[in-house]
Amino acid sequence: MSRSHLFIITLLGFCSLCSSQSPTKCPLDFNVLRRLAEGSRPSDKVADQCLLILQGLRLVQSDYLRRTNKFLPPLSSAESCWKDYQGNFDQLGNSFDIRSTCGFETQWIAEGCQNITTREEYESRNSRNALNGVSQACNQSLNGAPCATCTTSLSALLPSDVKGEKVGNVSDCTAFKSIYAAAFANSYGPTDRGTAECLFALTFDRSNKDESRRKILIGVFSGIGGLIIVVGVCGFLWFRKKKIERAKRKEEITKKWTELNSSALDSISGSTTLIKFSFDEIQEATKNFSRLNIIGKGGYGNVYKGVLPDGTEVALKRFKNCSAAGDADFSHEVEVIASVRHVNLVALRGYCTATTNFEGHQRIIVCELMKNGSLHDHLFGSDEKKLSWPLRQKIALGTARGLAYLHYGAQPTIIHRDIKGSNILLDDDFEPKVADFGLAKFAPEGATHVSTRVAGTMGYVAPEYALYGQLTERSDVYSFGIVLLELLSGKKALLEIDEDQHTLVADWAWALVRTGRPLDVVEEGIPELGPPDVMEKYVLLAVLCSHPQLYARPTMDQVVKILDSDLPVPMIPERPIPITAAIDDIEKSVSTMNSGNLSTYSGYQPYIDNSAPNTPRL
Ligand SMILES: *[C@@H]1O[C@H](CO)[C@@H](O)[C@H](O)[C@H]1NC(C)=O
Ligand SMILES: *[C@@H]1O[C@H](CO)[C@@H](O)[C@H](O)[C@H]1NC(C)=O
Ligand SMILES: *[C@@H]1O[C@H](CO)[C@@H](O)[C@H](O)[C@H]1NC(C)=O
Repeated sequence: MSRSHLFIITLLGFCSLCSSQSPTKCPLDFNVLRRLAEGSRPSDKVADQCLLILQGLRLVQSDYLRRTNKFLPPLSSAESCWKDYQGNFDQLGNSFDIRSTCGFETQWIAEGCQNITTREEYESRNSRNALNGVSQACNQSLNGAPCATCTTSLSALLPSDVKGEKVGNVSDCTAFKSIYAAAFANSYGPTDRGTAECLFALTFDRSNKDESRRKILIGVFSGIGGLIIVVGVCGFLWFRKKKIERAKRKEEITKKWTELNSSALDSISGSTTLIKFSFDEIQEATKNFSRLNIIGKGGYGNVYKGVLPDGTEVALKRFKNCSAAGDADFSHEVEVIASVRHVNLVALRGYCTATTNFEGHQRIIVCELMKNGSLHDHLFGSDEKKLSWPLRQKIALGTARGLAYLHYGAQPTIIHRDIKGSNILLDDDFEPKVADFGLAKFAPEGATHVSTRVAGTMGYVAPEYALYGQLTERSDVYSFGIVLLELLSGKKALLEIDEDQHTLVADWAWALVRTGRPLDVVEEGIPELGPPDVMEKYVLLAVLCSHPQLYARPTMDQVVKILDSDLPVPMIPERPIPITAAIDDIEKSVSTMNSGNLSTYSGYQPYIDNSAPNTPRL
């Protein structure tokens, strides 16, 4: 490394100390975010970016807490803190105003959970036991399963969020738990890669190079005075380099964007088969939306069966309560969805937007028709023959492949958000096809399964999504886990214990697995049962996928790999005690609901180890 290069790096350190000269300097150090990976899939959705900004702020607060024992900067510095953050954010090539775009108010950055400001105050609210539990569980490299152990231990910390005690949507007691744990319970600290990923859902670059270089160099030079001349010279060099760097970055970003856009355009123009139907054609195909043609009802509206002029049968989804505003977005989205093609995804044939005199504005999409209906029909419909084990295996694997493609094969990534039995359709050969992907955003307000209350009772939506709106690929993995449990057990996501008591199928299955009876999960009377070890593997995987802790769940890629090969299912980390039903109730339901005698086989060791230190990773 050249000498001038060294100086330049030193100056980076210097200047971050002297740059903000507003009256009340912000004590937060936003430089810790510099190593944030650019690869962490840039999403252009504002809500996602705001969430990311929030997570970044929490990491910075955690770093501050570690240095000063204070959770929050003084109120007088709130303005300069936002400015610092904005400055850092702008350098990443972004160009929106954080506060106004994300709806954050200036003082929120200096306010927090129940006015707690110091480490002492926070610790005095908590028992020694809870604090020790957290440092035991979190004082390790938090990659993979240890992360779940750590986040599980956090649920013992107080105060819990009480409704209405949030400060705006910037700081709340749940966030304080992660901020505290990253600062003090984990010896690696909040800027460690594993810690940042586990507790703040942020990804850092792998290389620690710049950080350590800077530290060493600042150490060397901080003792030496009289560097002013050097500073002058290097300042000049630094500014020049900075300028060049900035230009380079800009170029890179522009390049990235054009690449992204052109690939999106390519795929759209590639989907030449997408037809824009007229409303007349749609009416004709559905016999004017005849009641007899209705084959499904959902949050979006009705689904009709129809026949196109060329004789092909199609399914038509008619959205409720549309207005012409937003049609452009809709058309664009439909084009993008149409460009995503996979054997396990329902293919889009076309769409229609029109305003009619009598029925108002119309939005309709036209898909291939699946003669065999949905998985939900087959599992819970009336007097159907039970699906055989080989078919269930085929459905599980195909669904997993379809989802993995949405997550990792589609450009841009698509998170389905509404995986459930009725969205998995079966073709003539029982090949499963995932339907309705990419459409969640067009569901009318109140009709989605995304609103907190509905989500909780529905039993398909991942807890972190239902509670905090944190949406990642792993929310889909959770829903997939629930569908897989339905497929294996023949029981619905929301399980009735007796008349007015329900439990989640995931809690029920976990109770069985935990007590060493995974095969009791499998429905009785399935034709052509598979080998016990294979069925057990499916059960364990389903339980792992529906784990309440985000990081305990595998990715869809890993799920496909496990289903498709001899790879074992990783150990399932302990779960927090379910809130929906006391554990006794579950034990009770276990003993009364499933008295199948399959449990005579079990290669699975009941879960014993609480700390799971050496859990194998995939
Ligand atoms: C924060 O709350 C404001 C309204 O108070 C809202 O407009 C904004 O979208 C919210 N931001 C996030 C990231 O939730
Ligand atoms: C926090 O402080 C504000 C203003 O100082 C006060 O109105 C509020 O009641 C306090 N909240 C709690 C939980 O102590
Ligand atoms: C974490 O572990 C390290 C060594 O393993 C130890 O030095 C440190 O004191 C521990 N920290 C806490 C908070 O338990």
